[in-house]
Amino acid sequence: MKTDFIFRFLVAFYTLVASTFAADTLSANQTIGINETIVSPQQTFELGFFSPGNSINHYVGIWYKKISTGTVVWVANRNTPLTDTSIELALTLQGVLIIRNTTTGFIIWSSTNSSTTSVKNPIGQLLDTGNFIVHEEDDVIDQENPIWQSFDFFTDTLLPGMKLGWNLVTGIDRHIKSWRSNDDPASGEFSYSIDTRGYPQLNVFDGQDLKFRGGPWTGLTFTGFSNFKINRLYNLTFVVNNNEIYYQYNVLDSSVITRLVIQPNGRLDRFFWIDNRQEWNLYLTQQSDLCDQYAVCGSFGVCNINNSPFCLCLNGFEPTSPSQWRNTDWSQGCRHTIPLKCEPEEGFKKYSNLKLPDTQGSWYNQTMTLVECERMCKRNCTCTAYANSNISGTGSGCLLWFGDLVDIRTFNENGDTLYIRLSASELDSSRSPSASRRIKVIVPVAVAVAVLIILVSICLFYRLIRKRQQQEGTTKSKFDHGPVKNEDLELLMFGFSTILKATNNFSNNKKLGEGGFGPVYKGVLEDGKEIAVKRLAKTSTQGLHEFKSEVILISKLQHRNLVKLLGCCIKRDEMMLIYEYMPNKSLDSFIFNKTQSKILDWPTRYQIIVGIARGLLYLHQDSRLRIIHRDLKVSNVLLDTDMNPKISDFGLARTFGGNQMEAKTNTIVGTYGYMAPEYAGGGVFSIKSDVYSFGVLVLEIVFGEKNREFVHKEHSNNLIGHVWGLYNESRSLELVANSLSESIDTSQVLRSIHVGLLCVQRNPEDRPTMTSVMVMLGSEGSLPSPKEPGFYIGKPPQEIRPSSSSNGVCSNNEISISLLNGR
Ligand SMILES: *[C@@H]1O[C@H](CO)[C@@H](O)[C@H](O)[C@H]1NC(C)=O
Ligand SMILES: *[C@@H]1O[C@H](CO)[C@@H](O)[C@H](O)[C@H]1NC(C)=O
Ligand SMILES: *[C@@H]1O[C@H](CO)[C@@H](O)[C@H](O)[C@H]1NC(C)=O
Ligand SMILES: *[C@@H]1O[C@H](CO)[C@@H](O)[C@H](O)[C@H]1NC(C)=O
Ligand SMILES: *[C@@H]1O[C@H](CO)[C@@H](O)[C@H](O)[C@H]1NC(C)=O
Ligand SMILES: *[C@@H]1O[C@H](CO)[C@@H](O)[C@H](O)[C@H]1NC(C)=O
Ligand SMILES: *[C@@H]1O[C@H](CO)[C@@H](O)[C@H](O)[C@H]1NC(C)=O
Ligand SMILES: *[C@@H]1O[C@H](CO)[C@@H](O)[C@H](O)[C@H]1NC(C)=O
Repeated sequence: MKTDFIFRFLVAFYTLVASTFAADTLSANQTIGINETIVSPQQTFELGFFSPGNSINHYVGIWYKKISTGTVVWVANRNTPLTDTSIELALTLQGVLIIRNTTTGFIIWSSTNSSTTSVKNPIGQLLDTGNFIVHEEDDVIDQENPIWQSFDFFTDTLLPGMKLGWNLVTGIDRHIKSWRSNDDPASGEFSYSIDTRGYPQLNVFDGQDLKFRGGPWTGLTFTGFSNFKINRLYNLTFVVNNNEIYYQYNVLDSSVITRLVIQPNGRLDRFFWIDNRQEWNLYLTQQSDLCDQYAVCGSFGVCNINNSPFCLCLNGFEPTSPSQWRNTDWSQGCRHTIPLKCEPEEGFKKYSNLKLPDTQGSWYNQTMTLVECERMCKRNCTCTAYANSNISGTGSGCLLWFGDLVDIRTFNENGDTLYIRLSASELDSSRSPSASRRIKVIVPVAVAVAVLIILVSICLFYRLIRKRQQQEGTTKSKFDHGPVKNEDLELLMFGFSTILKATNNFSNNKKLGEGGFGPVYKGVLEDGKEIAVKRLAKTSTQGLHEFKSEVILISKLQHRNLVKLLGCCIKRDEMMLIYEYMPNKSLDSFIFNKTQSKILDWPTRYQIIVGIARGLLYLHQDSRLRIIHRDLKVSNVLLDTDMNPKISDFGLARTFGGNQMEAKTNTIVGTYGYMAPEYAGGGVFSIKSDVYSFGVLVLEIVFGEKNREFVHKEHSNNLIGHVWGLYNESRSLELVANSLSESIDTSQVLRSIHVGLLCVQRNPEDRPTMTSVMVMLGSEGSLPSPKEPGFYIGKPPQEIRPSSSSNGVCSNNEISISLLNGR
């Protein structure tokens, strides 16, 4: 017994000696071979050679030791891949880290020699922070100013304690740069750095182009990080002084493991390690909503993600090019409604809850007060706006903007306050609102419309009478004539008084709902026919252009699964569309409603899915035009008395001539949760982006859950993500709406889910066309396996925030955001 004890003690002792001896240091006469590593004292990080992903190249890097996924946080030779294993890492007597070819002895890579003083006895040491430092062996370690440190040379990851930004003394600009791909750590296109052209801001660049602005530091947070909340996991530090400008974050509890990484696709993600699940959880991500695109609404435009379309002009501003603006091309931005003339009466109006505009070219002074700031801005005619640079406490500091203000968005809460220069009369009118300006714009348009209407109505009048006479004897639709020369005239114009009478003066109890562009009312014509009147909001951006396009488009379309447009009505600047009335309203009032959803048994749901598919197929393929709907969603599907689905709302549809299959738009319209990734991210729309929306719709109909609002206690994937997970575990049936259990046709349900998943695949080319969808829904044959869907992780970031009620990272429900595959 006794000997056994001593023996064990000795073994433990030797391993202890062995591991501390070689563990965390690299001395000047020591080398590290391809299979050797050094490990930090607490076993947190490990340094050595590795091969990323599927690559056969070797790199020297630092990765987490305790965490098994092998997440690499630093790469020494990212741009110098090593192709074979006859290599070693060594520290020279001058304190320079080198990678040597063991066959030839040639140095293949070396760290920059930043040391100016000669070094006596250098030693390298891997710290538990993930920093590899080189220092004098005999000295007390100066962790702040070592001879060399890996924390001065960033890869794609910002660890707690790293200083992202400028050392103004040495001129080093430390920034993270993405890997080229998950298999290749070479410098990619995207970087995250502090931009010092003006008041310093944290920006994501795509090459030279500004892609996303974290915005300037406001004393508490960064103005562009709408989703950052003061929390108990980590804090932020931002320092601006004569020696350095940097951003840093620190964990408040050392057991918390977190990293900020710029991904090969340019996304900036913060992860937390969830120990009991042994995986990284995405905690925050940037550039995930459309308003995060840099300057998407142009100068003086403001992006509001809850608005549709999401670009607006700031109060006191109007579109520079109204026609382009109405057409959702916001690139020209907005201009002052009343131009500034640099008069002394000009003043400033307060705008709240904003992301502060781009500070490139701005000026700042951190000690001035707001009053001094206003005075300073007022004195200089090119100064367009001012704000406090530090909102902490009662506010301090001064930030001035000159010229156009770009990249502004609104937040529901916690936004910043900005004071913008306006003319005296604009300031007056914003105190006593007057619509005089709008009328000026609308009158000429209205006059033009009126002239057109008079001409049109004269010729329509006779046709109308003739048609009414014909109607009795024919079931043929009144729009379905042979070729007609002027298709624009094939519309019924309703008189405003008729509409007023039918809708009881647009009485509130006739209101059916509120669409994207205005309210919809039920009406009854004198002959008893029921109609639905979509009254386009006067404030809506749907101008004459969209109005006409919607009217003309729909009037040309004839299909049982498309809602039928009966006519329109124009009264001055008011535009109304008259549709056939759908007594059952829209699909969302059924499937997302606990009691109503019982009415929709499986056969009905299947009939609805097939009906929508038919309608969409008609839009894509069978009608005379190729039409991409672009805003297909549950609330745009109406149901008739027999529960036949009818697709509605073509305001966003575009006609495509000839062979054109795909188009790119600078401006993106649609609804979050239904938008395909290539459309939401890059503005590329095609019939395949409609197919994606259709896929979302199918899954929502089968499961009776909203994709975007889906909640699950174990993860925060959206519905697509959840279904994808179930599908991969062959558990698809688990979630199918409870109310369906009796009516269910298992193979039909599985087939629908399968088709839905095929439609939401990330890559548009992988998605089927609507023709194939129809074939797949109707046949029994085997289907291809779906690939990974687009947009299945997580919710929009503003809905992601740490709980403040319990203790930390390790509990699943709190900050689990989504499951990403570690690389
Ligand atoms: C390595 O260097 C240390 C100090 O620099 C020295 O004590 C040791 O003898 C050297 N070992 C070899 C094998 O050169
Ligand atoms: C490194 O280890 C691997 C697997 O253990 C082995 O196949 C390889 O030969 C080793 N390489 C060297 C250079 O020792
Ligand atoms: C090392 O040198 C040998 C001989 O020149 C060469 O074949 C090998 O590719 C080199 N290794 C690396 C990693 O450069
Ligand atoms: C690094 O700098 C020191 C001091 O300037 C110099 O003596 C040494 O040769 C340099 N080493 C390399 C590898 O350039
Ligand atoms: C952030 O937290 C770290 C670690 O607890 C602390 O040292 C630092 O002072 C904090 N910084 C700020 C700005 O609160
Ligand atoms: C900032 O403003 C203060 C107070 O007006 C002034 O004393 C100081 O010189 C200014 N600093 C700079 C750099 O302009
Ligand atoms: C106004 O500000 C601009 C930009 O900082 C500067 O170039 C110009 O000299 C200033 N004009 C006056 C009168 O202060
Ligand atoms: C911002 O204001 C707070 C409160 O007045 C102050 O403590 C802090 O030092 C200020 N920060 C800067 C960078 O001036």
